[in-house]
Amino acid sequence: MSAPSKKIALITGCSAGGVGAAFASVFAANPNYHVYATARNTSKIPQSLHETSSVTVLALDVTSSESIAAAIEAVRAKTGERMDVLINNAGAGWNAPALDADIQEARRVFDANFFGPLEVVKAFGPMLVNAHGCCVNNCSVGGVAGFPFGSIYSASKAALINAGEVWRHELAPLNVRVLTLVTGGIATKFLENLQPVDLPEGSYYAGIKDIIEKQEENISFAQEPEIFAQDLLRRVEAGQRGKKWVAGGASLMKWVHWLAPQCVIDRIFTEFKSFQKKLSAQHQQRMAEESKKVA
Ligand SMILES: NC(=O)c1ccc[n+]([C@@H]2O[C@H](COP(=O)([O-])OP(=O)(O)OC[C@H]3O[C@@H](n4cnc5c(N)ncnc54)[C@H](OP(=O)(O)O)[C@@H]3O)[C@@H](O)[C@H]2O)c1
Repeated sequence: MSAPSKKIALITGCSAGGVGAAFASVFAANPNYHVYATARNTSKIPQSLHETSSVTVLALDVTSSESIAAAIEAVRAKTGERMDVLINNAGAGWNAPALDADIQEARRVFDANFFGPLEVVKAFGPMLVNAHGCCVNNCSVGGVAGFPFGSIYSASKAALINAGEVWRHELAPLNVRVLTLVTGGIATKFLENLQPVDLPEGSYYAGIKDIIEKQEENISFAQEPEIFAQDLLRRVEAGQRGKKWVAGGASLMKWVHWLAPQCVIDRIFTEFKSFQKKLSAQHQQRMAEESKKVA
């Protein structure tokens, strides 16, 4: 059980090797905090966190109302109905051309990245209000400027960025801060954890599947998760609120996004996946073959 004198932090998505686990270990190492480290599968939470006295490990699938209700019950009594810091970190990535998007899968991404955090905030809201707490939403630079084939992920993170900024206004009179992280690169297995791209038969994009699937070996400008987590702890302790561009390459993205003309931004984003010439050539060839068949 946590000491009532300590601040309580609850973090979603604390699987080993990811950002959530780093948040949990950095907050738990601070003597002022007791951490609820959560994941939908608690066996994925690092053993070191299971063994840390200032950490309570808890199952929480942010896409399940039952799981959220069970987590609330588990936390409420032990924390005196208080939650000082709630970190919406869990999130799902997915790559697919929009024309090939499986709508169920797209909804799953939105459930994990937007509706899940919304339901978690709603559930823990009264505890945040009691503590004059801070809600942190781990979003993405992709939510401001999306990469080709990442439209669903980008849209879900954009939804969380924009909702978070509105929650900031709604919750400020209740003495709750909202910190929205427009997050750049962090050295995790996020890309490795993406599901392989599954193009349907007849996809316009079949000829460039290799380009769609190709991932950078390392996340660009990636920051170590521990450094990122220490930065977040400092921001929370400093009483920050609002939208912050954080982690690898985010400040650069912020300035490019504000200052560069659209053609430069387009160039940067399409260069990451250099597919347009190849796809266009394949399309012209297909059109030519089809018009020959008709003639
Ligand atoms: N790494 C980056 O460069 C980067 C950049 C910008 C933003 N972010 C954001 O940072 C957050 C953490 O990502 P990461 O880099 O640490 O990657 P990660 O290791 O893949 O972590 C994602 C975490 O979210 C969890 N999750 C997914 N769906 C969930 C659900 N329905 N309920 C509860 N947990 C769920 C995963 O659980 P399982 O292990 O069970 O799948 C995992 O713990 C994500 O929101 C991501 O969008 C990452």
